[in-house]
Amino acid sequence: MVFVKMKLISEELDISYFDEIKRIDLNSFEFPWEEKTIRTCLTSQYIIKFAAVHETKSKSLHGFVFAIPEVEKLHIVKLAVDSSQQRKGLGTMLMKAMEEFWRNNFGKELVLEVRSKNLKAIKFYLKYGFKIIERIPQFYSDNNDDALRMLFLF
Ligand SMILES: CC(C)(COP(=O)(O)OP(=O)(O)OC[C@H]1O[C@@H](n2cnc3c(N)ncnc32)[C@H](O)[C@@H]1OP(=O)(O)O)[C@@H](O)C(=O)NCCC(=O)NCCS
Repeated sequence: MVFVKMKLISEELDISYFDEIKRIDLNSFEFPWEEKTIRTCLTSQYIIKFAAVHETKSKSLHGFVFAIPEVEKLHIVKLAVDSSQQRKGLGTMLMKAMEEFWRNNFGKELVLEVRSKNLKAIKFYLKYGFKIIERIPQFYSDNNDDALRMLFLF
């Protein structure tokens, strides 16, 4: 259930949101992205993106999701919801936007990797309907964490 006044954006999610994406990324992850990666996501036409923004406050971001289309899969590369706005259904809403986008493009599945110790995110994805398909040892080069690869089939 969403209590915050917000709306979903996609096309409008451009480089002008860089500071807000960086803020949420820094607060959400032990190993946030480099600035150039955020810039690429916000400027590349190949990256699919959605964000939940405040309905009236300009550039006030509550959460975002980025994905890369592959042949039949849509690869989710980053999902984060501002810590003050979690457990209000925003993460689910952002994933549903990706799911709907991919269904409309005749896609068949969503795929992602998550750190095996990120239990909060794993619970979220399992609740959404993802299944764990494999464990990938030392997938993350920053600290050698294992990843779980998860799949959501339509
Ligand atoms: C994972 C994340 C995106 C979830 O966003 P959210 O907006 O809080 O998720 P929702 O409110 O839609 O939660 C849906 C369900 O997921 C599960 N869930 C979400 N957060 C959870 C938590 N902290 N602990 C246990 N289950 C959780 C619950 O079943 C929840 O339903 P409920 O609130 O009715 O019990 C958010 O916690 C986040 O940004 N975390 C930091 C960044 C991160 O780890 N991203 C994923 C990297 S792969």
